[in-house]
Amino acid sequence: MTKIAEPVVHIHDDRFKVTEWRFSPGAETGWHRHEHDYVIVPLTDGTLTLDMPDGQRAQAQLRQGVPYSRRVGVEHNVTNGSSVAPLSFLEIEVVDDALARKRRATMERLMAAFNMRDLDGLMACMSANCAFHAAAGPDAEGRVHRGREAVRTAYAAIFDTFPQAAWTEGAHVVAGDTGLSTWRFVGTTRDGVSVDVRGCDVFAFEGDLIALKDSYRKARG
Ligand code: NI
Repeated sequence: MTKIAEPVVHIHDDRFKVTEWRFSPGAETGWHRHEHDYVIVPLTDGTLTLDMPDGQRAQAQLRQGVPYSRRVGVEHNVTNGSSVAPLSFLEIEVVDDALARKRRATMERLMAAFNMRDLDGLMACMSANCAFHAAAGPDAEGRVHRGREAVRTAYAAIFDTFPQAAWTEGAHVVAGDTGLSTWRFVGTTRDGVSVDVRGCDVFAFEGDLIALKDSYRKARG
């Protein structure tokens, strides 16, 4: 009869799931797919037998206290390869990056709203106490626009200055409360001056909304 490893969940919150897996000799987890990135911390020495979806079988040596990490998507059945010694490890999963996903979506919506010249759409991405630091201006921060009304006016002025404008090649990353969008801006001013430069926005988030859009652009010259 198949012996099943015993999972003991120590922590399960919105960020982490920490499970202690206890294997009696010969016990196995059963087939599973890892839905999150994870770190394994062996609590004992031991030998794991790993069965893979392609039919391969591998052995892995566990050393007490020596961790290793794996990425989402690993699929296997894990067995305590020893017929005599119990084995255990902690599995630490990063269970939820829902907030980072929402923040990335906000950055994508903001860029789309710029391209659609949609002021309401832009402001729907901004928090209640938002600010916009323009790429150029008299201050060390560029030109500072603080508060929703000021930010809205500044965004409208961009559309006014550039009757033709496109934000392209957008790429977005989130790290903690900070977001980074890189892009290429191609536009023509009311006076017929063409602009084609790469730039970026550094965002500060409040929840999933943008509290600060801090803009930078290359200066040609
Ligand atoms: Ni596994």
